[in-house]
Amino acid sequence: MDRGLTRRDVLKLGGGVAAGAVLARPAVAYADGGRTKGLRDLARRAGVRVGSAVDTDALASETTYRDVLVREFDSVTPENVMKWEVVEPEQGRLDFAAADMLVRFAERHGMVVRGHNLVWHNQLPAWLTGGSFTDAQLHDILRRHILQEAGHFRGRLSAWDVVNEPLADDGTMRDTIWLRSMGTEYIDDAFRWARLADPRATLYVNDYNIEGLGPKSDAMYALVAGLRRRGVPVGGVGVQGHLDIQYGFPGGVTENLRRFVDLGVDVALTEVDVRMPLPVTPEKLATQADYYRRLVDACLAVDGVSVTVWGFTDAHSWVPGVFAGEGAATLFDEQYGRKPAYFAVRDALAAARRS
Ligand code: G3I
Repeated sequence: MDRGLTRRDVLKLGGGVAAGAVLARPAVAYADGGRTKGLRDLARRAGVRVGSAVDTDALASETTYRDVLVREFDSVTPENVMKWEVVEPEQGRLDFAAADMLVRFAERHGMVVRGHNLVWHNQLPAWLTGGSFTDAQLHDILRRHILQEAGHFRGRLSAWDVVNEPLADDGTMRDTIWLRSMGTEYIDDAFRWARLADPRATLYVNDYNIEGLGPKSDAMYALVAGLRRRGVPVGGVGVQGHLDIQYGFPGGVTENLRRFVDLGVDVALTEVDVRMPLPVTPEKLATQADYYRRLVDACLAVDGVSVTVWGFTDAHSWVPGVFAGEGAATLFDEQYGRKPAYFAVRDALAAARRS
């Protein structure tokens, strides 16, 4: 039986395929008979984790997806299955089945799991967004959610994205249901409740467009400095790293990441992808590879703890569904061929060898 997913796992994950299809022998033929070293081997020697967001449907239904994930990465982040709309579709009805399978899979393959995410303004269940709750009720609902979900995975996750995307692009606090009902205290409370539920996981605040220097990363710096001053257990800043070759590479990335480290928190790249206007050309792929390399170099230069890509194959990427006419944002193409960006990340990890 395949060490990755059991037959029961596959059926529960709802991969919609006969369990045998997933448990078949690896379909990926490598010239060296599968002894190809992956990014995870280089990352280990560099003293960092290299990870990917995981589409659990693809994990359950595609052998190649699973084999490449296991060969290349030693950290996984659930792309969607730990989000509130999935884990509590009706108020009080908890469903961790898909997330449990991913955590079990990760544990079987020597991977750590980054929980994602406990508090966000998006992918909230309809009973919450459509309800008419008082501020006091929302406070209790959020507290219960965090204690229940972080408690469910207690001790099994290396990190949580506790608060996701709390800032607007101009550096003000994003206007969300949580800010409106609880003020900025929702952030302090969320971290305290998460720490109560899980004494071990490193607790992150996670956002995009904070890669380089600018008003949003200034605001993130001020936010984290304030949390630390108040003794809030924030332990990491998640820098998502969603880039687009059309807009250039952000300025001052290393300087920016270093100032977060100087606050005494971990820094992680949490959702890296570099999209491009289609069609793909060699020039665009070269620019993409350059952006990946520069982002990873900056993270490693400041002793960042992990680099996670937001999906590793163009066959399963969120980008085309959101950015019309764009795509090809990941390290592997739709046929799981390594792109120049893959080799750029590989070279960055090899150059950073710390052991
Ligand atoms: O589960 C439903 C399914 O039942 C339904 O049939 C289908 C069609 O409507 O939708 C499915 O839900 C989709 C969900 O992904 C699960 O696949 C949502 O429509 C879709 O909007 C959602 O997109 C996710 C997006 O977050 C939502 O904002 C992406 O997969 C996911 O990659 C993306 O990830 C976020 C991070 O969590 C936070 N940082 C930004 C990043 C990119 O937006």
